[in-house]
Amino acid sequence: MLSHARAVHSLSFARSSADGPKLESPPSPAGATEPSEGGNREVCGIIGYIGEREAVPILLEGLRRLEYRGYDSAGLAVQTGRGIVTRKLGGRVEGLATHLTRLPVHGTAGIAHTRWATHGAPTERNAHPHVDCQGQVALVHNGIIENSEALRAALERSGHRFYTETDTETLAHLIEEASGETLEARVIAALEHVEGTYGLAVISADEPDKIVVARRGSPVLLGIGNREFFVASDASAVLEHTRSVVYLDDGDVAVLTPRGYHVLDHDSQIQSRAVDAISWDLEALELGGYSHFMLKEIREQPETVQQTLRGRLLVDGYARLNGLNLPAEECTAIRRIVILACGTSWHAALVGRYLIEELARIPVVVEYASEYRHRTQLEVPGTLAIAISQSGETADTLEAMRVATKAGCRVLGIVNVVGSTIARQADGGIYLHAGPEIGVASTKAFTSQIVALALLALYLGRQRELSEDVARDLACRLSQLPDLIARTLELEPQILTIAERYAEAANVLYLGRGVNFPVALEGALKLKEISYIHAEGYPAAEMKHGPIALINPDMAVVCVAPHDDVYHKVVTNMQEVKARGGQIIAVTTAGRASVGGLAAHELRVPSTSPLLSPVLTVIPLQLLAYHIAVLRGCDVDRPRNLAKSVTVE
Ligand code: G6P
Repeated sequence: MLSHARAVHSLSFARSSADGPKLESPPSPAGATEPSEGGNREVCGIIGYIGEREAVPILLEGLRRLEYRGYDSAGLAVQTGRGIVTRKLGGRVEGLATHLTRLPVHGTAGIAHTRWATHGAPTERNAHPHVDCQGQVALVHNGIIENSEALRAALERSGHRFYTETDTETLAHLIEEASGETLEARVIAALEHVEGTYGLAVISADEPDKIVVARRGSPVLLGIGNREFFVASDASAVLEHTRSVVYLDDGDVAVLTPRGYHVLDHDSQIQSRAVDAISWDLEALELGGYSHFMLKEIREQPETVQQTLRGRLLVDGYARLNGLNLPAEECTAIRRIVILACGTSWHAALVGRYLIEELARIPVVVEYASEYRHRTQLEVPGTLAIAISQSGETADTLEAMRVATKAGCRVLGIVNVVGSTIARQADGGIYLHAGPEIGVASTKAFTSQIVALALLALYLGRQRELSEDVARDLACRLSQLPDLIARTLELEPQILTIAERYAEAANVLYLGRGVNFPVALEGALKLKEISYIHAEGYPAAEMKHGPIALINPDMAVVCVAPHDDVYHKVVTNMQEVKARGGQIIAVTTAGRASVGGLAAHELRVPSTSPLLSPVLTVIPLQLLAYHIAVLRGCDVDRPRNLAKSVTVE
């Protein structure tokens, strides 16, 4: 049976020492990151600055870097020396920047926010920062105050006037109402009344040299500079100024002044928190000559997959996964694996199922985290749960992890963002090391997730019955992937021509079978999320049970059909499409039989192990969605209504 003991914190998701300095943060003190109940957190970005420089340019630049997290409205509040001045607007950060050139604000301390609305429309009024009755306290907040209605009613009864429909405004009035000699004492007192989640930065006109920060259930970090300090929801917002960060734990309250910072617990006792180094470079956050982050991230995949593999493949087919925290005897005791994820990560999980079942011979179920968490879980002893998340912050995935933990499972995380909540709350896991993914449509994280799952399958397989020959072969194929991805990317000119042909399509059907069925799902998701064309992914053989009724000469059908043991079956499905006049775009394997007679377009990817083929077959589909969206004039990196990290349920 698996040990259910909570292990050392998974900030120790370690890469092998063979590959140079560890990229991970050191473990947090045990118990410091106990999960907060309820996963609702507003999808937003926070940045704050205190130091000697003008705050507004720093805040605006931070907001630009955070905009991928939410882009409905933006605002900031600055200590001007004559009180707090706020500026906020509905719409994008650039609108706020223009507004500030007309109505400038000067000061060396301030807080700012970009928002994706959950409570209240994305209007100027509802944008953060929010203030108290006197405009003495201003704050920005990520998260949701679950008892805000009751608090608001009580505050209104005691005379507070509310200006917005947001739950956040409640916090400003609670702090106004709270007693205490310092701002931090009032914040701590106010938060005692709050149910829900927050990442919070507060300023007060009474103490202009101070920002107070608090965290519960929504990520917050401090940036440590030279006589200047930052608060941010995401490391990307501070990287331009410092690489030294402190990831706050749930329950922490931090105080920043131009002279230093300290972290307090609930009892106002000073706590020590490790200072970590951000491992990636500023270039990772820049477009670097690309028109969109999505294209940059698609083209980065040879390097990002290499990064996921680095130091982890051993010649005898073993994978070295130091952060897994799963001793050999526990691997042999695993009876079942449940993978929990959302969106693109869920599609990677579906590929992982084939990999793990084939190589490790452990039955796998893949669950939408949002569905799993609401069912009674009857996990059998020996069930291992794996949460997959690029951001490490998706609310449903976090909550599903908690449910799995309560059901007695050990929980691993496969996560990209170092120090994220899922990484911290898992018992162990694998970091992708794919670098920051800024494009809202996930691309490079998907291929790295599959590679991480392949490594895990190898690791588990070798601890069980996988032969060294098979493992060696797969390890060799894995190590070839970066080169093969680079060759697949050479298909881009051909894909651009296809995109021009189908840019005005109303519907596109994606078909795949076996391990490439999830690729069909992912291709359809990419197209619909950034081009707004209706697209559906389907198991190729299921088409005849319904979708075949849709096929006519206007219907484009993308068939993912690399040469594997279901190839001939998918060709039969293509014939069924062709017989009804559908336009086929086929993704097949180079150097093998062509489907030129059947398909209007054929994209031939290099040959690899069938189990790893999704890493290659998905790339033409990412590029197709990208180019179609660009041709349609869509905002590729910020598709409407979507957010990079969905921290609401
Ligand atoms: C959002 C993003 C998707 C992502 C999904 C899961 O919907 O737009 O790209 O796949 O969340 O996110 P995660 O960070 O948990 O992988």
